[in-house]
Amino acid sequence: MRLVLVGPPGAGKGTQAQFLASHYSIPHISTGDIFRANLKEGTPLGVQAKTFMDRGELVPDSVTNEMVRDRLTKGDLANGFLLDGFPRNVAQAQVLRDILKEKNTPLDAVLELIIETKEIVLRLSGRRTCRNCGKVWHLTYEKPTSAGICDSCQGELYQREDDKEEVVTRRLEVYEEQTAPIVAFYKGEGLLISISATGPVSEITDHAIQALAKS
Ligand code: AP5
Repeated sequence: MRLVLVGPPGAGKGTQAQFLASHYSIPHISTGDIFRANLKEGTPLGVQAKTFMDRGELVPDSVTNEMVRDRLTKGDLANGFLLDGFPRNVAQAQVLRDILKEKNTPLDAVLELIIETKEIVLRLSGRRTCRNCGKVWHLTYEKPTSAGICDSCQGELYQREDDKEEVVTRRLEVYEEQTAPIVAFYKGEGLLISISATGPVSEITDHAIQALAKS
């Protein structure tokens, strides 16, 4: 399964990606996670990405495309992959198509998660992430047992800089302006599957798997 997940910030891409990647036994490749890991390690890539991420802007294509091209040469892709957060504009989608064409491994599907803006705001304002293992929690929907502490590894939970209200507003604008057009792009390619991203996490996963099986 070679799959792309698309949807606005907070739609639940990362949450669903964990379950879908496990179901299909494929690696979950999140460009946002790769940037955050580089930031944590203080690499030049992380420092460069931070200036864009903190403003809710896209990291330049020249940087992001090369990072993804490099990731897609790794030896763990025999069963496919799940891309989360890439592509994020039509130019990136065209680059991905070219990379996969060179490898003769075209995409199987693009899964769009549909959600209302008011739910996005609730999800992002309550999201907390583990500084140690990266697991994502929510103050209401996915509460850790002890406030501020990750149940999985006892790491400290923090709020992402780009989940602050003013940055969320910009991320939503950037999504509409730059990322939403890839939905039409993939519809034109006959790859698009759209499902609702509202409701219990496990139900959304089940709907996604059923929709992908039908396609
Ligand atoms: P990235 O990390 O990709 O952020 P995003 O796309 O904005 O997505 P999020 O991680 O905010 O949300 P999500 O959809 O994964 O939701 P989640 O599952 O966590 O990118 C960050 C930045 O990096 C970008 O702004 C950009 O600067 C840069 N970047 C990344 N990729 C790039 C690219 N290709 N090109 C250029 N720049 C790039 O869920 C959210 C919350 O809701 C959680 O708390 C979760 O517990 C909760 N939740 C999830 N599902 C449910 C449910 N069904 N019911 C209730 N709560 C739920």
